[in-house]
Amino acid sequence: MGAGVVYALIGGLVVAAYLSRSTRKKQSLPYPPGPKPLPLVGNVLDIPLKQLWLGATEWAKRYGEIVHLNVFGVSLVFLNSADVAFDLMEKRGAIYSDKPKLVMCGELCGCENMVAFNGYGDQMRRYRRLMQKALGTGAIKQYEPLLEIESHPFLRRLIAKPANYVDHIRRYAGTLTLGVVYGHQVTSDNDPHFRMAEDCVGILANEIASGGGIWPVDVFPSLQYLPNWFPGAGFKAKAVVWKKKMEDWVDEPFQAIKEKMKTGAAPSCFCSVLLEDSKTTDHQLEFDVKWTANSMYAASLDTTITVMSHFIHAMVNNPDVVAKAQKEIDAIVGNGRLPNFKDRANLPYVECVWTETLRWAVPVPLGLPHRLMEDDVYKDMFLGKGSLIFANIWAMLRDEKLYPNPEQFNPERYQVPVDEVTEKKRDPRHYVFGFGRRQCPGKHLIESSGWLLMAAMLATLDFKKAVDEHGNVIEPDVTFDNSVFRTPSVFKCDIRPRSEQALKVIGGEL
Ligand code: HEM
Repeated sequence: MGAGVVYALIGGLVVAAYLSRSTRKKQSLPYPPGPKPLPLVGNVLDIPLKQLWLGATEWAKRYGEIVHLNVFGVSLVFLNSADVAFDLMEKRGAIYSDKPKLVMCGELCGCENMVAFNGYGDQMRRYRRLMQKALGTGAIKQYEPLLEIESHPFLRRLIAKPANYVDHIRRYAGTLTLGVVYGHQVTSDNDPHFRMAEDCVGILANEIASGGGIWPVDVFPSLQYLPNWFPGAGFKAKAVVWKKKMEDWVDEPFQAIKEKMKTGAAPSCFCSVLLEDSKTTDHQLEFDVKWTANSMYAASLDTTITVMSHFIHAMVNNPDVVAKAQKEIDAIVGNGRLPNFKDRANLPYVECVWTETLRWAVPVPLGLPHRLMEDDVYKDMFLGKGSLIFANIWAMLRDEKLYPNPEQFNPERYQVPVDEVTEKKRDPRHYVFGFGRRQCPGKHLIESSGWLLMAAMLATLDFKKAVDEHGNVIEPDVTFDNSVFRTPSVFKCDIRPRSEQALKVIGGEL
């Protein structure tokens, strides 16, 4: 998803928020501080075109832990410290957990039922309960065998075509969630469910949430009632096509598992377990399971690609870290098998590498914006109904006081002895998955799948900078074009098996 997409998305959000903004009565409390707005357009020119989180962090340095901007009369509020984010998004979660309503994306393209776009209310609470069942700490253990099985083919594909590492991570994440959610086994890159997901994630990111600008129908909702043939109503035809694609994407894998259930051939998975529990045909439950299943699947792809790409990037740049982690794995696991979950507690340095990966990567640096449902007052500052609230996770995880030299990838920072409070505070898991009632429901899954994949790679692979045909080292060149996910662009690197023995363990050939 390019910067245009994201700014279109923000544009859309702003418009949606505008339509439901506070009718602020003249009152004495000021907004939180922020850059001075221009008349009418507000701070629109202050918004950087790329990596909004860097701009937001510059404002944080200048204006403090809570910053207010106004774009065409709509408030954007950045919460730059964990304390403020906890105070508002957690403690006042009852009014800070809504999502902006988008006409094009939500209503016309049918995405309003996806978890991440769904407003705060009964439906969202039902979704969250289902996801808690499927992805809560208690549930994750049952997926461990699947995670362990999938590591081998991932490693084989990686050593066969290291330059395509992103495709391999995508296939791994897709296989895993299709298995966990729909009990579907992916056997090739051409698997129809997998291909359909690729297509639809692309449409969602690059078309529906894009358009190079704001969808006019978001500004003037009455445009949705124009007849299809009317000049300028082309968006309606597009929406019809995309909505159908989205619905097929939500429906097809769900119908497939239902068919298997009829013949008794359904493996145990999120959908089958929940539907079986309900004994009778419960249309509400079916609807909820279907949309929740799709949302978990959709959300796992970009996030997993992002965090694992950062891990590879960090390993390529930090051979000392790789060597130290490999020494620990060799001593505890030996070289006859891959690490597994039973080894985890005995691999403290590897744990630090994973913790540092989460911090260094910051896969969703500004979280996903929430919409404030009521006017609110915080530390004598006014926050208006309809404001878009961003948790500046990037600023929290680059806080120099908590993480000295924060740009450096340094797993040892977690081994420096500190008091109990600081120990808890410096764990990036408290911030990286967002705050409050919309916090990431996939955090336990990635905590297991990401750790295992990382440990398997460290056990068997060497990571180096690539070299060109003249023997010159190519420095990995990474850019960030996507403003929701901090996904690094694909970079050149040299990934190969550590040894003949490692190759045997992976079960591959050179
Ligand atoms: C390192 C990997 C991941 C990171 C850093 C991450 C981070 C986040 C963040 C910051 C949010 C926004 C929370 C908020 O609105 O305050 C979020 C939402 C969400 N995540 Fe994740 N995520 C990751 C992986 C996953 C995975 C693997 C899944 C699915 C299995 C998943 C499913 C979701 C869903 C469904 C939402 C929307 C929740 C809602 O709006 O109620 N995430 N994630």
